[in-house]
Amino acid sequence: MNIMIIGGTSGIGLALARHYLKCGDRVAVCGRDLQRLPNDLETTSPKLHAYQFDIADRDAIAQAMEAFTVADKRMDLLIVTAGIYYNTRSHVLDVASTMHMLQTNVSGLAHAFELASQKMLKQKSGQLVAVSSIAGLLHDYPGASLYSATKRSVLSLCDTYRIALKPFSVAVTAIVPGYIDTAKLRALNEGDASHKPFIMPEEKAVALIVEAIAQRRDRLVFPWQMKWLITVLNWLPAKLLVLRR
Ligand SMILES: NC(=O)c1ccc[n+]([C@@H]2O[C@H](COP(=O)([O-])OP(=O)(O)OC[C@H]3O[C@@H](n4cnc5c(N)ncnc54)[C@H](OP(=O)(O)O)[C@@H]3O)[C@@H](O)[C@H]2O)c1
Repeated sequence: MNIMIIGGTSGIGLALARHYLKCGDRVAVCGRDLQRLPNDLETTSPKLHAYQFDIADRDAIAQAMEAFTVADKRMDLLIVTAGIYYNTRSHVLDVASTMHMLQTNVSGLAHAFELASQKMLKQKSGQLVAVSSIAGLLHDYPGASLYSATKRSVLSLCDTYRIALKPFSVAVTAIVPGYIDTAKLRALNEGDASHKPFIMPEEKAVALIVEAIAQRRDRLVFPWQMKWLITVLNWLPAKLLVLRR
């Protein structure tokens, strides 16, 4: 398969890249800083391609997609893990960082889906995948409303594209994780994120994500404990959640 991963220079995206490279797939990893790619990945993986761009830059995404699919190569799978998140619920965003989060988590994803879907429509096959978050399922997430809103938007974009592309055999999968023990999450928690509820090791999360992609599922919400917790929290009156601020 020909697979592009936007947000593949670290964390979940990098772990997915390693998995697909091991399977023998041709993989493009993309991010703003390719220096972050571990040396072993570059030297031992001839099927690895790397493109440096900011997902907010539509033209740069288009150029990378053209380069990766040159000579009529297919785009079988696009995975977008690029996203910004903070640790604290009460993180205050100024205008610049608000726009940055919106451009990365939402409009960047829309650019990537739109450009890849043009190729997949021509092929009449393919799959788009985006990583949302459990936060996007919460009706009210006190103090984290912008991140939560961006991840709700990811789910809405996935639903919209799924309906539009289904007649053309293009699948759209939304990945909705709880806490995953990535280097970024650890860095935001002074090196140890083990106190986060129901946190899952990165390898286990990647195995679940890969399975959901292979099954062309509409949506994967995990871990199951978080799924149930969110159902209960959404059922509680919003006023009770506000009391926890
Ligand atoms: N870890 C968790 O607990 C968790 C839980 C729920 C949801 N998620 C979601 O999962 C995704 C990945 O999380 P992670 O923990 O693996 O984080 P991460 O290690 O920070 O990965 C984010 C990736 O996105 C890339 N990226 C960020 N901004 C970008 C931009 N403007 N343009 C292009 N690439 C960009 C980063 O690469 P560069 O720095 O090279 O650009 C990096 O490769 C995020 O969308 C996050 O919201 C994570």
